[in-house]
Amino acid sequence: MILPAVALLAATALAEDYRPLFHFHPEQNWMNEPNGLIKIGSTWHLFYQHNPTANVWGNLNWGHATSSDLLHWTHQPLAITAENGIQAFTGTAYYDSENISGLGSPDSPPYLAYYTGYFPSNGTQDQRLAYSVDAGDTWTKFPGNPIISAAQEAPHDETGGLETRDPKVFFHEPSGKWIMILAHGGQDKLSFWSSTDALKWAWVSDLTSEDVSGLPSGITGWEVPDIFQLPIEGTGETTWVLIVTPAQGSPAGGNGVFALTGSFDGTSFQADPVDTSTLWLDHGRDFDGVLSWENVEASDGRRILAGIANSYGGHPPTNTWKGMLTFPRTLELHQIDSKRYFVQQPVTELSTVSSSLATIQNQTITPGETLLSSVRGTALDIQLSFSVTTDAVLSLAVRKAGTQQTVIRYNGSNKTLAVDRTATGNTEYDAAAGGVHSAPLVPDASGVVQIRVLVDTCSVEVFGGKGEVVISDLIFPDEASDGVALEVTGGSAMLRSVQVKEVSL
Ligand SMILES: *[C@@H]1O[C@H](CO)[C@@H](O)[C@H](O)[C@H]1NC(C)=O
Ligand SMILES: *[C@@H]1O[C@H](CO)[C@@H](O)[C@H](O)[C@H]1NC(C)=O
Ligand SMILES: *[C@@H]1O[C@H](CO)[C@@H](O)[C@H](O)[C@H]1NC(C)=O
Ligand SMILES: *[C@@H]1O[C@H](CO)[C@@H](O)[C@H](O)[C@H]1NC(C)=O
Ligand SMILES: *[C@@H]1O[C@H](CO)[C@@H](O)[C@H](O)[C@H]1NC(C)=O
Repeated sequence: MILPAVALLAATALAEDYRPLFHFHPEQNWMNEPNGLIKIGSTWHLFYQHNPTANVWGNLNWGHATSSDLLHWTHQPLAITAENGIQAFTGTAYYDSENISGLGSPDSPPYLAYYTGYFPSNGTQDQRLAYSVDAGDTWTKFPGNPIISAAQEAPHDETGGLETRDPKVFFHEPSGKWIMILAHGGQDKLSFWSSTDALKWAWVSDLTSEDVSGLPSGITGWEVPDIFQLPIEGTGETTWVLIVTPAQGSPAGGNGVFALTGSFDGTSFQADPVDTSTLWLDHGRDFDGVLSWENVEASDGRRILAGIANSYGGHPPTNTWKGMLTFPRTLELHQIDSKRYFVQQPVTELSTVSSSLATIQNQTITPGETLLSSVRGTALDIQLSFSVTTDAVLSLAVRKAGTQQTVIRYNGSNKTLAVDRTATGNTEYDAAAGGVHSAPLVPDASGVVQIRVLVDTCSVEVFGGKGEVVISDLIFPDEASDGVALEVTGGSAMLRSVQVKEVSL
């Protein structure tokens, strides 16, 4: 994915430079989206687009970090480096358990990492391979690179291979073939390629916006594809899910992430008609470039997503680092009547580092009352379960002090969940940094609304209902803005359960 290079802002930092507590971010300098997410043994590997030499987009390498719990990350040396004038753009990793590539050592099948080679000298993008025979610790570039040259891409790309990137590679069991999906940027198109040896590739099909029935117009600049199968909870069936990050057309503007269901026969993806009410995985500004961890053991079985929280390029007011990984979240597909919902929740590992600060049970709140005003914290996991009268608006303010606050609001009249950043702190850094992001959220069959809010030094991630509505946004409040307040206006709310937990690593 390409973000504009923007000059480093003058150094005017808060003491801690807004460094998050429980969200991965680079030790120094720039990151954009995750790459090659894969679990090997008990280790979660995170690779990411990283400029190790400056706090701006450019000079891209695959940064690397590892974790045993998706919470505590250890920074590792660069995994795939920019070298000989070729940068290492986005891609994915997969376990070649049968050593089909032949790149394994005598006692170890290889892990394969496919990435886009980018030549800043002339803008060419080709596809490359690196492999690891030491369980992901170190990566060797394949001597036969590129595995797909710009010349081989040219007949399938309007720009002749200048805009062909972000390889998603996986082994498709039913056809016994390796599949690669490439994005074609401004052409609003993905191309599918296949291979029998994971090394030599042939084009097999295209998927364009024209092929997706019901896809609204204006969803353009497709990048960072991911594909996998998901069970449809409540049916006993599974379906293919294809995830794309477009550069324009998302609910909050800018980059966003949409998810299609459909079928895949080893050659082409047939998308189910789009239901626009379940198309977007997030309604905030700061969730894109999303990939899922591969090779998670069947006994775990989760499909876990992470993306980059930063759709403002070089603008966010952090000086020593830029770009934060969204908190890892599970993705499920639930069927209720004839409608399918994507359901997302923070990974449950979070509860192992959270301790209770406050709870409320079965209490009615009326206008003029303020609850939770004694709670303080800048890293919180807040869970609310409540019902409201149709004239009521329930507001949870976080990162609050004086007039500064970020407000999560549920409006019982229009049944809408919203994140309000109008008084959130520093919004000067970008024209899109303030405002309100909202999405419809209907109460459950018994009239209860659930909201879960993850708060960190510079972010809020809000999960509504079972997780069918998510709003993720960066915020830049003062360090001292650590208050919380729960209030209602217009009518009353019955608080079934409120739990505020402090996250401490
Ligand atoms: C993988 O294949 C290569 C090339 O045939 C061979 O040298 C290596 O021993 C194989 N490794 C495994 C684990 O099968
Ligand atoms: C782009 O530059 C590279 C490195 O100089 C060169 O190998 C390649 O042929 C160039 N591609 C085009 C399309 O000019
Ligand atoms: C709160 O009310 C619900 C519904 O009436 C009830 O099931 C639950 O036991 C109550 N909890 C407490 C702690 O009183
Ligand atoms: C519904 O309420 C939300 C939250 O209060 C607000 O942001 C949104 O603008 C409202 N929508 C309409 C259509 O009034
Ligand atoms: C709640 O929604 C109603 C109906 O759309 C709207 O008139 C009202 O302004 C909203 N309240 C807030 C606080 O946004």
